[in-house]
Amino acid sequence: MIEELSYLSHLETGQVPFRMEPVQVLHFLRSFFEQYELVVRDAGVDFILDMRDVEEQQSNLPVVEMDAQKLEQMLFNLVSNAMKFTSSGGLVRIALAVEKVNHIDYAIISVQDSGIGIPPEQLEQIFDRNYRYDQPGVEKGVEGNGLGLAICREIVQAHGGTVRAESDGKTGSIFYVSLPCI
Ligand SMILES: Nc1ncnc2c1ncn2[C@@H]1O[C@H](COP(=O)(O)OP(=O)(O)OP(=O)(O)O)[C@@H](O)[C@H]1O
Ligand SMILES: [Mg+2]
Repeated sequence: MIEELSYLSHLETGQVPFRMEPVQVLHFLRSFFEQYELVVRDAGVDFILDMRDVEEQQSNLPVVEMDAQKLEQMLFNLVSNAMKFTSSGGLVRIALAVEKVNHIDYAIISVQDSGIGIPPEQLEQIFDRNYRYDQPGVEKGVEGNGLGLAICREIVQAHGGTVRAESDGKTGSIFYVSLPCI
């Protein structure tokens, strides 16, 4: 807890060094998926990587200037939340898409789960530090300090990107990480 809190403070004040290098997002996600596949499946949750839309394009594959270790940590925070709030038999899906906005390509990495969802009026606050809401149906014992998403947001913003969540509050959640391509 103290370690995470001081890490978040260091991120916020720009004291964490980032080692940026160009990385193919397809490769980054494939290796992330291979690394965590067993961990997620062991929790009884189906884990899917869907990059068909981008793979079919062949040319113009998305490349992002990134600190791959930090983005891996960010993605693992999202995936562990997805697992934590999804009961066994459920599903966690990572997908990749590319979107053009004002002539700039953005790699959109999404993490979707079939869990308990997030009430729509909480979708912004969950990114604030120490923010956790008491959900009916979630036992009090569910662990967490409410720092994971604040750390995610700092890491994504350090890459010039954005992160946001969508949910109807009932049928799971989906997190979108948008990163500018080079
Ligand atoms: N996939 C999800 N489904 C449902 N609720 C979620 C999901 N991800 C985040 N939340 C809600 O947002 C809150 C904040 O998430 P965050 O990752 O910042 O903290 P945490 O997981 O509670 O603790 P920590 O990440 O520090 O261990 C969570 O406590 C939970 O209420
Ligand atoms: Mg968390």
